[in-house]
Amino acid sequence: MTEAELYSVYKGVYLPSFLHTLESLRYYEEFSFRSDDIVIVTYPKSGTTWMQEIVPLIRSGGDLTAIQMLPTWDRVPWLEEHRASVLNLEDRPSPRLFVTHYHYSMMPPSFLKVKPRVIYVMRNPKDVFTSSFHYYGMTSYLVKPSTQTEFLDKFLNGKIMFGSWFDHIKGWLNVNDKENIMYISYEEMIRDLKDAVARIAQFMEKPLNSEVIQKIADQCIFKNMKKNKLSNYSLVPREFMDQTKSEFLRKGIVGDWKNQLTVAEAEYFDKFYEEKMKNVQYKFAWD
Ligand code: A3P
Repeated sequence: MTEAELYSVYKGVYLPSFLHTLESLRYYEEFSFRSDDIVIVTYPKSGTTWMQEIVPLIRSGGDLTAIQMLPTWDRVPWLEEHRASVLNLEDRPSPRLFVTHYHYSMMPPSFLKVKPRVIYVMRNPKDVFTSSFHYYGMTSYLVKPSTQTEFLDKFLNGKIMFGSWFDHIKGWLNVNDKENIMYISYEEMIRDLKDAVARIAQFMEKPLNSEVIQKIADQCIFKNMKKNKLSNYSLVPREFMDQTKSEFLRKGIVGDWKNQLTVAEAEYFDKFYEEKMKNVQYKFAWD
């Protein structure tokens, strides 16, 4: 299937029509944020699901029922997905937890006005590419890569869902008022998950003692989280996600791009990255 068959174009980026109906996009555009909402923002394959496990556990003070009652997509719903409109999010108590893959330039009026708290998660784009390559190969609602080189070109030029990784990162890093935004990387979380949990808890203004922070970090390490049926996407029927081809919680490591990209592809990627990011001052964990 092709882009024309599977995607719509919304605010300049491709979105898979299966997940994002016109009504759901309108619902998000008209959504009323609260200032104490917490919005996890990611480019796809950067650690979204991981955060959908960590943040509810921080909110619950380490009470595991927070991740044992609802699947990730209802626990921390995507505001742009059609399910958001049927979850009665207006009735949820504060602080509400949401997730979005939107670029900053796509965020709706209420977000810009209310300025809720944002946790922006970044990941080395070569690993995002690698994770995406496998993910696109196992889902029915995304255009399957024909070759790796062809998919690499699509990735670099933003011809995939949610557009360009470069635009996403630059848009969110360039926000003028950063007071309510926490920037964190997948790599930092891999390096020291306990420290990451502690910092996120501080940002959420949820004081937790060291034991609780350790308990949350233990639950959220890859091998433990992978066992949670409500987080590992095993509830999604195989016709939509075929995890016999590639698991959703696939490897969970830093640097898998080295096993995926050829030397020539990695060099091509680096050149493209250098050009696109030349005016970005931010010190990334993967630099
Ligand atoms: P890989 O495909 O490289 O393994 P998203 O949730 O944004 O779609 O990102 C999915 C990526 O995050 C996958 O990367 C997945 O394995 C990884 N991931 C999910 N939970 C994780 C965890 N607890 N620890 C490390 N990586 C995790």
